Amino acid sequence: MTPANNVFQWLPCPVVFICTAHENQRDIMTATAMFVSETEPLITVSVATGHLTDQLISASGRFYAAIAAGDQKKLAFQLGSGSGAKEDKYTRFSINTLPAETGDNLIPEGVSAWMKCTVKQSEAIKGYRVVTGRVVQSGDLDRPPLIWHRDALWQLLPAK
Ligand SMILES: Cc1cc2nc3c(=O)[nH]c(=O)nc-3n(C[C@H](O)[C@H](O)[C@H](O)COP(=O)(O)O)c2cc1C
Repeated sequence: MTPANNVFQWLPCPVVFICTAHENQRDIMTATAMFVSETEPLITVSVATGHLTDQLISASGRFYAAIAAGDQKKLAFQLGSGSGAKEDKYTRFSINTLPAETGDNLIPEGVSAWMKCTVKQSEAIKGYRVVTGRVVQSGDLDRPPLIWHRDALWQLLPAK
């Protein structure tokens, strides 16, 4: 696939931080997400199998999808380029989190919005686990989101 016909770069996707914890381990990674259904609030994420995030989602049956804000580009790259199995990324990048009662001390401050999800369905496909989560709790912090498009990160502007 060349840059001219790489359809996967054409579809704009919201950037999320997938926040997970199980027993004494926690992790956070950058991913993209898409909604599946509004009637029953379902979203889907695709996580490479074997990532610590994948292991913690499978073990706990839940995750947070925190929508990155437009000014969190640096954090998105930091959390998208190293494994939490080697080093706790919250400590490494000095991430302050929303109060425990909001997100179990897992949701970074400054995000656009967050969704707490329980795993509704999980399917391994070609090296990825496609996880559909049911949103059981959510909060909107009213900041414009960060978008992945054409191999780069973007902020939103109102359409004219
Ligand atoms: C903008 C962006 C989007 C990404 N989207 C995904 C994704 O949807 N699925 C995935 O498995 N990895 C994605 N990654 C890569 C992971 O964030 C990266 O492999 C991460 O280090 C995995 O963390 P972990 O090993 O601690 O779970 C993305 C990275 C960036 C920068």
